[in-house]
Amino acid sequence: KITFNADTPQMGFNNWNSTHCRDEFNEAMIREVADKFVSLGLRDAGYRHINIDDCWANWKRDKNGNLQANPTRFPHGIKALADYIHARGFAFGLYSSAGTNTCEPNEPNRGFPGGLGHEKQDAAFFASVGADYLKYDNCNNQKVPARQRYQAMGEALRATGRPIFYSLCEWGENKPWLWARDPAIGASSWRTTGDISDNYASMLKIFKENVVLDAYAGPGHWNDPDMLEVGNGGMTDVEYRSHFSLWAIMASPLLIGTDIRKIKPDALKILLNKEVIAVDQDPLGVQGKRVSDAHGVDVIVKPLKDGSRAVVVFNEADAAQDVAVSPKELGLKASTRYRMRDLWQHRDTQGDGSIKLRLEPHATVMYRIAAQ
Ligand code: DGJ
Repeated sequence: KITFNADTPQMGFNNWNSTHCRDEFNEAMIREVADKFVSLGLRDAGYRHINIDDCWANWKRDKNGNLQANPTRFPHGIKALADYIHARGFAFGLYSSAGTNTCEPNEPNRGFPGGLGHEKQDAAFFASVGADYLKYDNCNNQKVPARQRYQAMGEALRATGRPIFYSLCEWGENKPWLWARDPAIGASSWRTTGDISDNYASMLKIFKENVVLDAYAGPGHWNDPDMLEVGNGGMTDVEYRSHFSLWAIMASPLLIGTDIRKIKPDALKILLNKEVIAVDQDPLGVQGKRVSDAHGVDVIVKPLKDGSRAVVVFNEADAAQDVAVSPKELGLKASTRYRMRDLWQHRDTQGDGSIKLRLEPHATVMYRIAAQ
């Protein structure tokens, strides 16, 4: 039985960051990825969505105007792929754009058919092939107001009667955090930024844009700072640990963006850190709040359901820094004794809630702090 909801941020896979539209993006790959998610324990760690991105479709709609799969990439069609994914206990996700065409190839008025003006027919198609998730992009939007475009698809999805997780990919251009959770639209998440790329500068920039939006996230409506790059090779493991810690404390969607068939053990370990995942998925559903960013050291605090707090301390800078965070900054009373769980070392210490240590460039520490 496949269950998913938006009470906590979505977790899963999307091929985009690892393949873009290259030929390796095809049905064999997606099936093997799903199998690997099972055998490596990722499904059981909470990664439940297997989503495919741009370039899954054929250039032309069929004679009835329906979307259809690219026959070279997906010779058995999308329904067969969805069945395969579902049989392994995953929800299946599709992609389109709230425009006349999707984003690739990046040339105006050329590309795969988009949903603008075809919302009802396309939503019916998504439901008919068994899609559980729609990522709805923003290219070729003909300057139709965003709210109108995203509402039309939201209504069409609901009209199918099939629960479909609605993920807006409008890149934060029209401040979707202010309107997309309106039930008339019904978005469960919205992108807050442009695209991430697999390097530290890009990850840092996106983090900074997303971290200030904590007031707008909560159960059923999440800020989405784009998919994970962990494992793709453009950052060090220290940077990937920071990336994963920051995304988790910001209650972000955790969509793995690497070809899991080729992942190295150290990167896999990051994605399988259950204590960090538990912070992302905490049922209280609060996006961590940045309480300080003095000297390029970010301190982010996320209250958790059991009364404890998750804390990330991240050294953005290119030099090592000595860091001292007081219990007061973390909202703790200095007199109390705390259990401090280091979520990367998997070790407990007792303390007064203060954090004092030396942080290497781009490194993070992450704790779960509970009163004793
Ligand atoms: C832009 C989106 O932001 C990306 O995540 C990806 O979906 C590409 N478009 C696909 O063309």
